[in-house]
Amino acid sequence: MDSLIIQGQRKLFGDVLISGAKNAALPILISSLLTPGKLVLKNVPKLFDIQTTEKLLHFLGVEINKDESSIELNAKLINHIDAPYDLVKTMRASILVLGPLLSRFSKARVSLPGGCAIGSRPVDIHIRGFEAMGARINIDQGYINASSEHLPDGRLIGTTINMDQVTVTGTENLMMAATLARGETILDNAAKEPEVVDLGNCLIKMGAKILGLGTKKITITGVESLSGTKHAVMFDRIEAGTYLVATAMTGGEICCHGVDADKIEAIILKLKEAGAEIKINDEKITIKSDGHLKAINLTTSPYPGFPTDMQAQFMAMNTIAKGTSEITETIFENRFMHVQELVRMGANIDIKKNTAIIRGDDKLSGANVMATDLRASASLVLAALSAKGETKIERIYHLDRGYEMLEEKFNQIGAKIKRVNQ
Ligand code: EPU
Repeated sequence: MDSLIIQGQRKLFGDVLISGAKNAALPILISSLLTPGKLVLKNVPKLFDIQTTEKLLHFLGVEINKDESSIELNAKLINHIDAPYDLVKTMRASILVLGPLLSRFSKARVSLPGGCAIGSRPVDIHIRGFEAMGARINIDQGYINASSEHLPDGRLIGTTINMDQVTVTGTENLMMAATLARGETILDNAAKEPEVVDLGNCLIKMGAKILGLGTKKITITGVESLSGTKHAVMFDRIEAGTYLVATAMTGGEICCHGVDADKIEAIILKLKEAGAEIKINDEKITIKSDGHLKAINLTTSPYPGFPTDMQAQFMAMNTIAKGTSEITETIFENRFMHVQELVRMGANIDIKKNTAIIRGDDKLSGANVMATDLRASASLVLAALSAKGETKIERIYHLDRGYEMLEEKFNQIGAKIKRVNQ
């Protein structure tokens, strides 16, 4: 198992090219199941979760060809309609094959994703949505069996679905299914996340009829079939945010390329409040910081609110900022696992229910720590970059699920990170 050894207290300077978004690439790769045509994608990041998705699609029968800059997917001949436990257990986003398989082939069988480190993460809203569209669903031996074979032509039927809670993959799953359903589907209380919009735009290029992307009411008018298309995946908001917070903490000046600042406004506002200087120019964001920051309060919420996927990184930042701050997590009930590890590096944090109270102090010191989930791991990297001495982060396979070339990109801007294999 690989670990990272990080030498702290080095300022960061230079340019970082931000990769394509994991959470947009995953549903967009999976949308290839909706068409017998070719889907050609650019800007797909090279990540462990992407490999898992490719494995799953390959298992289902999708033909995949890759070169350096693009991936071509062809789901003309599908030979399985089931996503087995072994593939789903390593990546919850596998649940996204349910909607496309059910709407194109009238049948799907997908392993129920289990609990996960950041919370229980049920999929009841996905299931209730498919049922509202007429699907028959039963759960048996850990699998969701879904069928629309009893409906005329086996097609799902459009309807209005009120989602009790904003769910990103729930909105994506139901939106994909609705593209091939009979009639109109309205998704009420839909997720407005830019990744949902990116998927929707790709589906529109494939011939889907979708209105209201980026709002809480998405209307989809089903069509009989979709065709192939070409699409470039949007930039990774969370990767960009992670490099910006790193520089705010260590001090220095970096420029992130290939980003759209409007989509990370909540992150930029909080960095400015903490005292970093930010300049935006076309697709570039430059951050300058002397490393002396003010602690800030924040509460996570669905887009355009402050993203839960940046909560852990800002927690690391507040540990070295001046003052006492509160961070409240409202999306996932168990997303404070980085706290114990940050405390091992000298942080002063108390947890009261879903709020962490952080007493900032400008000393963190290197220690041996353990990565527990993707964003918790990122917060440990940031803490290590600003800490005194050396930090060893174990179990970094979590980071490889979501950050493309993390140590190369950080080393290019002046960090000292080494990957070791034990
Ligand atoms: N929820 C339900 N029932 C459902 C679906 C969701 O109760 O059927 C609850 C969840 O338990 C949670 C809340 O609704 O409390 C929101 O969860 P959501 O469904 O939006 O999360 P997700 O779609 O499973 C995606 C991202 C996560 C990101 C969240 C929130 C992907 C592949 N994953 O997860 O990304 O944290 O939205 O923005 O898009 C990550 O990249 O590290 C990551 C965890």
